[in-house]
Amino acid sequence: MSKLPSDLQNQFRSHFELSREVVYLNAAYMGPLPLRAAKAGIAAIEKRSHQCWQTASTDFFDPSEDLRAEVAKLWSARADNIALVPSVSYGVETAAKNIQFSEGDEILIPAEDFPSNVYPWMEVAKKTGAKLITVPRPENYNWAQAMIEAMSERTKLVSAPVCDWSDGTYFDLAQIVKACRARRAALIVDVSQSFGAVPFDVTKIDPDFVVSVGYKWQLGPYGLAYLYVANRWLNGTPLENNWITRAGSEDFSRLVEYKDAYQQGARRFDGGERTQFHLTPMALGALQLLSEVSVPQIHSHVQTLTETLHSGLRDLRFEIAPREASCGHMIGARHERLANMATLAARLKTKNVFVSARGSALRISPHLYNDAEDVARFLTVLEGELRGWVGER
Ligand SMILES: Cc1ncc(COP(=O)(O)O)c(C=O)c1O
Repeated sequence: MSKLPSDLQNQFRSHFELSREVVYLNAAYMGPLPLRAAKAGIAAIEKRSHQCWQTASTDFFDPSEDLRAEVAKLWSARADNIALVPSVSYGVETAAKNIQFSEGDEILIPAEDFPSNVYPWMEVAKKTGAKLITVPRPENYNWAQAMIEAMSERTKLVSAPVCDWSDGTYFDLAQIVKACRARRAALIVDVSQSFGAVPFDVTKIDPDFVVSVGYKWQLGPYGLAYLYVANRWLNGTPLENNWITRAGSEDFSRLVEYKDAYQQGARRFDGGERTQFHLTPMALGALQLLSEVSVPQIHSHVQTLTETLHSGLRDLRFEIAPREASCGHMIGARHERLANMATLAARLKTKNVFVSARGSALRISPHLYNDAEDVARFLTVLEGELRGWVGER
């Protein structure tokens, strides 16, 4: 059973409209919108439908600033270091555009990373002659050791997440960044699969760039993502030349007085139409909920659930990374007799149990709205599915 008092669990769940018919353990795929985020989105659409003339020029700026500040607060960063972008790939591409690579420079990425963290570096390698090095998944689950051992004097860029997106195993970024600094290599961190459920503090790591989606553990809409840019890159070149990121864009009557100067800090890296009138209030509502509940509290809640999952899955003969090698918020469970996890995930879905198959792992990712009842039902349904089925294959 969860260690949290049940009224607190209910308090978390009451922020969502989640039917008890469904066991949703798939935050790593997509988070459900909290009620307040859905309401904020509907209110924004209604305003646009019925009263679009009420949209003031300040509305192009103020909600985006609120969102920027909320992301900054959750990462212990300054709002000036946060850019609002449409996707992780956009953020990674921004980093790729600003790091000067020469032939023979090395770019280090972990094996089987999410494609948005891979394709941009494949392109850089093609264009510049830099070498893309993929670090194999370490059998001892020690990603930091594996990444550091793969570094050389030519390492120019290291891309590492907080956790492996398929099974939640942990990357010790403090160790990785130390090795990066020793070689003057830049570090880009994708926190998409941890931001919202695992505390993250840029002041402790001092990465060069951080990227995240907003629609998974962050519980926000699809289409708004976040990019942190360290002070040392703030004079860089944005991907686009859009009007709102230029100095003085607040004054709509003087937009044709074209300027070379940008808005302050990382705002120059914002994507075009970053204001996203309907999405921004939703994203803000979702992140405010995370702040109110607090990410450390969410982390300890989901850790309690994954501990039960851990022992239940082990009893069912799944192979799982040891707890100390994991971020504690999600599990990637492999089974020597089950090669096709997609089929298993599809069968669970027919029983209203939602998890993902990623590579050879069944990925189970609980969030603040889940509780001991969800975990117990998942394990029962899984056991039922496995009975007879494992033996057949
Ligand atoms: C680790 C990680 N990064 C990024 C993304 C999404 O990237 P993008 O915003 O480029 O679609 C995902 C989606 O599953 C992901 O798991």
